[in-house]
Amino acid sequence: MEKNDELIKEEESKYILQTYRRYPISLVKGKGAFVWDASGKKYLDFIAGLAVCNLGHSHPKIVDILKKQATTLIHTSNLFYTIPQINLAKKLIELSFSGKVFFCNSGAEANEAAIKLARKYGKKVGDKYEIITMENSFHGRTLATLTATGQTKFQKGFDPLPEGFKYCKFNDIEDFKKKITLNTVAVIIEPIQGEGGVNIAKAEYLASIRDICNKQNILLIFDEVQTGIGRTGEMFAFQNYHDLTPDVMTLAKALGSGFPIGAMVVSDKFSDYLSFGDHASTFGGNPLAAATGCATLDVIKEENILEKVKRVGASFLIQLNTLAKKYSFVKEVRGQGLMIAMELTIDGDRIVKKCVQEGLLINCTCGNILRILPPLIISNNEIEKALEILDNVLGNIDN
Ligand SMILES: Cc1ncc(COP(=O)(O)O)c(C=O)c1O
Repeated sequence: MEKNDELIKEEESKYILQTYRRYPISLVKGKGAFVWDASGKKYLDFIAGLAVCNLGHSHPKIVDILKKQATTLIHTSNLFYTIPQINLAKKLIELSFSGKVFFCNSGAEANEAAIKLARKYGKKVGDKYEIITMENSFHGRTLATLTATGQTKFQKGFDPLPEGFKYCKFNDIEDFKKKITLNTVAVIIEPIQGEGGVNIAKAEYLASIRDICNKQNILLIFDEVQTGIGRTGEMFAFQNYHDLTPDVMTLAKALGSGFPIGAMVVSDKFSDYLSFGDHASTFGGNPLAAATGCATLDVIKEENILEKVKRVGASFLIQLNTLAKKYSFVKEVRGQGLMIAMELTIDGDRIVKKCVQEGLLINCTCGNILRILPPLIISNNEIEKALEILDNVLGNIDN
């Protein structure tokens, strides 16, 4: 570490609550698929701010809109109508399904809004309140969303947790059926579990859940916080599934290209259950955030990003599978679009640390799963470079 980095580290631990384990570099600049640390070292960024910087770092159109909107109107509160917010809601609805949008600032808040909507809906249809979520899911860190998260490690030490959550096995329709009671009001599911290790929901499974929800008036909520905004090759992951639409979809992360924003999209059938005074957010959908959201969606269309993600993602997956064959400790490579995982039989953190040293940023989840989330604007040359680094690191690891 450079001396400069030492000082940064020291001050961080002195002034910042120690809730994050960080890699020993401080990032100071980003452009496209690259970031630079304080000592000037360049890294290929295959984390993309944890699926946030889908358009890469400092995309010129995002920078332009931020400057333009900042000099026009940054914030007003939701006591007033603001045009960027309405424009963004309209775009989201046109791109997804007929309904209405509530804006907030993060993924947890979007899911919190969905939980509140489910509770309100439940009250109207017979005092029901139970929400089914999936084992291995991740929905956020507020008290309700960490309870919705089907991983006890995130809940430990925070009890008593809110009541009314049940967990079922992902991709297991019989288990889902078993967990339904007369009290069940909603199910929350990530079409591809991100934090849980890039586990893809099977088409038949989601179709059966949709069918059961229709028949039993259960709200089907898709958490697309990580899968949304082009990551999987469609604007929203539910669009990878034939003829399948959720009742509610939550978004955040890449929607603002790095500017914080969250959204809950609610289909027509359920859009009247939250009414005046039921929910609010001071910053939710403010002009700066909403204008950035609009620009993000426009760039995805203008630059034909979805087609690119499908093409580049498919070939990257093949290349990673070829690489995996060389190493017995690689259990599986899986993914959709540019949301990819390499599951190992050994500890993944070591590999991530080595990759960082070699100039490639990737993430490790669940202890042994390398999560690879490049920006969607990634070039073939950048992918080649990442594969070269990864091959080199895997080839030199003791196992
Ligand atoms: C699927 C999913 N839902 C919700 C969240 C929480 O989002 P945030 O950290 O913006 O609150 C995340 C964050 O990783 C996520 O991946």
